[in-house]
Amino acid sequence: MILSIESSCDDSSIAITRISDKKLMFHKKISQELEHSQYGGVVPELAARLHVEALPRILEEAKEYFCNLKAVAVTNEPGLSVTLVEGITMGKAIAIALDIPLMAINHLKGHIYSLFVEKDVKFPLGALLVSGGHTQVLSVKGYKDIKVLASTLDDSFGESYDKVAKMMDLGYPGGPIVEKMAREGDENRFKFTVPLKHSSRLAFSCSGLKNQVRLKILSLKDITEQDKKDISASFQKIITEHILQKTRKLFKKHKFKYFAIVGGASSNLYLRQKVQDLCDEYETKLLLSDMEYCLDNAAMIGRASIEGYHIKDFVKIGAVPMNPRASIN
Ligand code: KG4
Ligand code: ZN
Repeated sequence: MILSIESSCDDSSIAITRISDKKLMFHKKISQELEHSQYGGVVPELAARLHVEALPRILEEAKEYFCNLKAVAVTNEPGLSVTLVEGITMGKAIAIALDIPLMAINHLKGHIYSLFVEKDVKFPLGALLVSGGHTQVLSVKGYKDIKVLASTLDDSFGESYDKVAKMMDLGYPGGPIVEKMAREGDENRFKFTVPLKHSSRLAFSCSGLKNQVRLKILSLKDITEQDKKDISASFQKIITEHILQKTRKLFKKHKFKYFAIVGGASSNLYLRQKVQDLCDEYETKLLLSDMEYCLDNAAMIGRASIEGYHIKDFVKIGAVPMNPRASIN
């Protein structure tokens, strides 16, 4: 079995995955949403301090599997440096104590493997990765063969939801809150413009739209609950239209047999439906992670690490690479 650890942002999570049949033997996650909600976003130092308490508590519960462990896998990048260090340090300590190899797993690769928790992989595939730190379309042919086809020029999809929620004092994380508000809003009330609409660039941009929303909110004196719902719906419509416009261009260029949405924001049902419609049009099969594996978790890191284990993709305990701004691969 492999013990995996995830601490790249504000979720402390540990999983135990059986190598032979990919079965998830143990999985627990402690989220810090409540602690960060009063700040409208993640406070890195606070997150690190909370990992120090949460990770050993979860590890204690996984003790019965220690005698079966063949390796330890830990998220090493990208993410917040102060929180990544907490998981890496724990991973190193376990690897030394049990004299087993250590693996460093890229967090974004983990999101891709969230599709295949307790399942076999389906490659090659195209993937839209939408999280708090990233908005990308990837071409995935294998564990070591992942290419970025398009990326954001500024803010990410998830972060834009977080900021729009913060502008209206709705709490954190903003994604699920704004999605819920949008369900009761009029998506045609506010006319925001679609980013990079007339540009042929295969790239994403969310900061201009965020600013349009900010200016609209400022122009509304005494903002009402209904105004907030209408802002949420109008924003969600346009940001999704932007993602779809660029993704459609990639569909035209690449004949995807499978296309996936991964990352925390892949739990958004509005986005799922729009991508499903695009896939139907191109006769592409849409792959989605189970809802419980969309947001950061250690099960996806454990699933990715099985692939790494088979090719002995181990790292030296004293030299775990850590680049908080790393891309994929
Ligand atoms: O992958 P994730 O758990 O953490 C990162 O790797 O960043 O993604 C968290 C992000 C947050 O920005 C959160 O607001 C966003 O995903 N998110 C959503 C939804 N659920 C989570 N964004 C839009 N709609 C959602 N339903
Ligand atoms: Zn993530």
